[in-house]
Amino acid sequence: MQSKTFSVLSSCLLLIATVQGQLSGSVGPSTSISDKKAVKTCNVLDYGATNDNKTDVGQPIMNAFEDCGSGGVIYIPEGDYLIQEWVSLRNGTAFAIQLDGVIYRNGTTTSQGYMFGISGGSDFELYSSTSKGAIQGSGYLYHMNGEFTAPRLLHISDVSHWSVHDIALVDAPMFHFVIDDASNGEVYNMAIRGGNSGGLDGIDVSGDNIWIHDVMVTNKDECVTVKTGSHNFQIENIYCNWSGGCAMDSLGSGTNVSNIVYRNIYTWNSNQMYMIKSNGGDGEVSNLLFENFIGHGNAYSLDLDSEWSSMDTVDGDDGESRPPIRVICPEAIPCTDITIEDVDLWTEEGDSETYVCKNAFGSGACLKSDSSSTATYATTTTVTSAPSGYSATTMAADLTSAFGTDASIPIPTIPTSFYPGATPYSALAGSS
Ligand SMILES: *[C@@H]1O[C@H](CO)[C@@H](O)[C@H](O)[C@H]1NC(C)=O
Ligand SMILES: *[C@@H]1O[C@H](CO)[C@@H](O)[C@H](O)[C@H]1NC(C)=O
Ligand SMILES: *[C@@H]1O[C@H](CO)[C@@H](O)[C@H](O)[C@H]1NC(C)=O
Ligand SMILES: *[C@@H]1O[C@H](CO)[C@@H](O)[C@H](O)[C@H]1NC(C)=O
Ligand SMILES: *[C@@H]1O[C@H](CO)[C@@H](O)[C@H](O)[C@H]1NC(C)=O
Repeated sequence: MQSKTFSVLSSCLLLIATVQGQLSGSVGPSTSISDKKAVKTCNVLDYGATNDNKTDVGQPIMNAFEDCGSGGVIYIPEGDYLIQEWVSLRNGTAFAIQLDGVIYRNGTTTSQGYMFGISGGSDFELYSSTSKGAIQGSGYLYHMNGEFTAPRLLHISDVSHWSVHDIALVDAPMFHFVIDDASNGEVYNMAIRGGNSGGLDGIDVSGDNIWIHDVMVTNKDECVTVKTGSHNFQIENIYCNWSGGCAMDSLGSGTNVSNIVYRNIYTWNSNQMYMIKSNGGDGEVSNLLFENFIGHGNAYSLDLDSEWSSMDTVDGDDGESRPPIRVICPEAIPCTDITIEDVDLWTEEGDSETYVCKNAFGSGACLKSDSSSTATYATTTTVTSAPSGYSATTMAADLTSAFGTDASIPIPTIPTSFYPGATPYSALAGSS
């Protein structure tokens, strides 16, 4: 376990360029669950499934999709199911999966891939009407042997107008939830709880016009992370409850990211509160707004880092090698129009902290203001007292010790609060 800079960031406003990123249109499925049920319901128990936690539910879900995948609801009633055949559903339209049961990974399936993959098509919803549906990946069966190249849990790829909500994803053998090239999507009211290790990402997302809100992630890698090829995202009320933290990474060749808002992000005991990672590559990232971040016990706070891999060898353990504000841009391509405003950071265990800026222009922290200049520079500022107005609340139930990697991880209930003082946008489906 690395030691940390215990720093706090409250109310961070970072604006690159002048226009605020936001959603570009409506998100979520185009037709309601009741409309889909009016067309057809395909109960997996009628397609060969049994809720005995012994019979494979994978093939029955795919059989139900044959009948309900172009209009209807695939219904997985309450109960325990074993998944042995990974589910791949392609080009569905106007359909939903109502997962009220719990799906357990059969420890003997060896194929990697995704346990649950939805690709192509449009108008899709995956949800639990009781907010108790879950996919349990039992990743510890791999991790206890030091294996981390393993099945991932959930994949939404190239789907438009969709939502995933009110389910828990638990102990993925590898990543929990990958969203690729998807559009007009909504993700909310979710708990993701994985092992305490790198490589067990929470949500990795790319695509266009996606709203992710009211999500808790526990793991030791990506919390909610934007990948290249991302435009018009709103990411709000995110609780990184002992995680790696949120990021934008790893930006390489052909990077193209724009109009991204992160708002109300609470980060507890993570690697970072926000990090943009690159090293070489090309392309552009523009129009980002990071607003209202609160964090405690994180190694990095705000880190825009174009020399990311160079950090691999740094054995950081104080505010100097892991500065709470770090904006490092390439000499050849300086960053411009950055605003760092109302950012109060202080160490929870030391008596000073350091800000580092390099080839970055704008206002606030150690940034140089002359954006017409492309002169290279590097500067370090040491801060020896808490900023005035510094304060940061904690959440009532921060995780006090990590889930390990060698024992089964219990399925969580979905929280009803994800950021101090913020009310989730939608009530839990199971609360009505
Ligand atoms: C279901 O089966 C899996 C795999 O054998 C097991 O890990 C899990 O504990 C079982 N679930 C219940 C509720 O018994
Ligand atoms: C799904 O749709 C895409 C694009 O229309 C098509 O290329 C692909 O063959 C389809 N796949 C299946 C399995 O139908
Ligand atoms: C997985 O499936 C195989 C084949 O049906 C079965 O023998 C085995 O018991 C299952 N594993 C678990 C953990 O249930
Ligand atoms: C970046 O993505 C946007 C939106 O998809 C697109 O319009 C633009 O052409 C892309 N830029 C490059 C350089 O690929
Ligand atoms: C944070 O995570 C722990 C473990 O999953 C859980 O007990 C706690 O309730 C979570 N906090 C909240 C506010 O849900």
